[in-house]
Amino acid sequence: MNAPLPVEVLKQHLIDPEICIRCNTCEETCPVDAITHDSNNYVVDPDICNGCMACVPPCPTGSIDNWRLMLRNEAYSVQDQFGWEELPKEKALPETAAVDAGGDAAAADAAAVDTAAVGTAAADAPGVMTGAASAAAPAFSLPGASVPPWSAAHPYVNLYTHKAPMTATVVGNYRVTGADTESDIHHIVLDFGELPFPVLEGQSIGILPPGVDAQGRPHHARQYSLASPRDGERAGYNNLSLTVKRVTEDHGGAAAHGVCSNYLCDLAKNDTVQVIGPFGHTFLMPNHPRANLIMICTGTGSAPMRAMTERYRRRIDTGDNGRLMLFFGARTERELPYFGPLMKLPRDFIDINLALSREPGQPKRYVQDLIRERAGQVRELLLDRNTCIYVCGLKGMEVGVLDALREVTMQSGQDWSILHDVLRREGRLHFETY
Ligand code: A2P
Repeated sequence: MNAPLPVEVLKQHLIDPEICIRCNTCEETCPVDAITHDSNNYVVDPDICNGCMACVPPCPTGSIDNWRLMLRNEAYSVQDQFGWEELPKEKALPETAAVDAGGDAAAADAAAVDTAAVGTAAADAPGVMTGAASAAAPAFSLPGASVPPWSAAHPYVNLYTHKAPMTATVVGNYRVTGADTESDIHHIVLDFGELPFPVLEGQSIGILPPGVDAQGRPHHARQYSLASPRDGERAGYNNLSLTVKRVTEDHGGAAAHGVCSNYLCDLAKNDTVQVIGPFGHTFLMPNHPRANLIMICTGTGSAPMRAMTERYRRRIDTGDNGRLMLFFGARTERELPYFGPLMKLPRDFIDINLALSREPGQPKRYVQDLIRERAGQVRELLLDRNTCIYVCGLKGMEVGVLDALREVTMQSGQDWSILHDVLRREGRLHFETY
């Protein structure tokens, strides 16, 4: 009668603010809306999170994968977490509580193991899922895969962090859209000198803009996809490139000054930049011979497509290349980044489809319209297990692209929902939208 009440213990899910690059992937992924953010941090609501792990594989930095055993009534609130600059140290639980915690913690650990196993199975097995792994696969909450293609090279992540960034030198910065157009998009080349910065096509880096925000805190890092392949913007050099659009208005069209994009677009040769990363372990290209790529992008979403295309171009004589099919959306030819170099690529090397939405005298077209127009070729590639699909650019195109892929698949009597699941499970369909 006088025995102490059982103390409830929670395995609290936390996000490391020092590593998080505020890319919003976790908030988008969370099936129960437990993740939210303010201008400082992304945080997890302990009253909502059920430890399902859906947000863990898509996180490009691993900052999402932090857990603390806490007495439930002492759990860190959302407000506590908003104020953090770093994760609090782990606290020892009272002994009685630690015993009571066994069941909860073990269950959460088991969930973690299951998720890891699914990722490993999909990544290791060349196109074949074992029955066990299929059974354990989570219900998909993302349109794309959370595992890389089975043959992708191993990516390095988080080699340089907010606390220990890398200094890179600007060796090139020039505009890649028509000078008279609204879209001011720059190709920026950063050199790392003697220090290692290993990257793969599809990965991104973080740039730390100088100065402080309205609250007097240093600006958070901004994430940019690489536009150059693994062996450098210039083959054999320790450098990489980015495609950066100068932000002058917000999504609603109101005037807004993009802190990092304006900083980057205004950099001069020999200026130095603080860089963190690399990030990303899923939006990676296949490494096996004769793999085909369908690349679908708008605007600066062309960066990873340029990186992958250039990787293929550099090995054009090896006979290892599969087919490349590109769908690229922009307002006009003059606002399409890299239009000139793209048009110089041989037609038998890459199948280029430009969707222009505001070209005078031409009907408005989006990438999804062209996918439908090229249904035969798209379907042939989609049904080939050596094909990976990459979508990067405006968030708004996600639905349109998925609808077009569904239609194209169904025209031949195939079931899109089955193919969609296979593409995700095998790491063959990837989205990076913003
Ligand atoms: P639009 O002319 O209708 O804005 P941006 O230049 O703003 O980065 O956009 C790149 C291209 O993506 C533009 O051609 C733009 O067309 C197009 N676009 C806008 N919304 C969508 C969407 N929902 N699906 C596909 N493309 C889109």
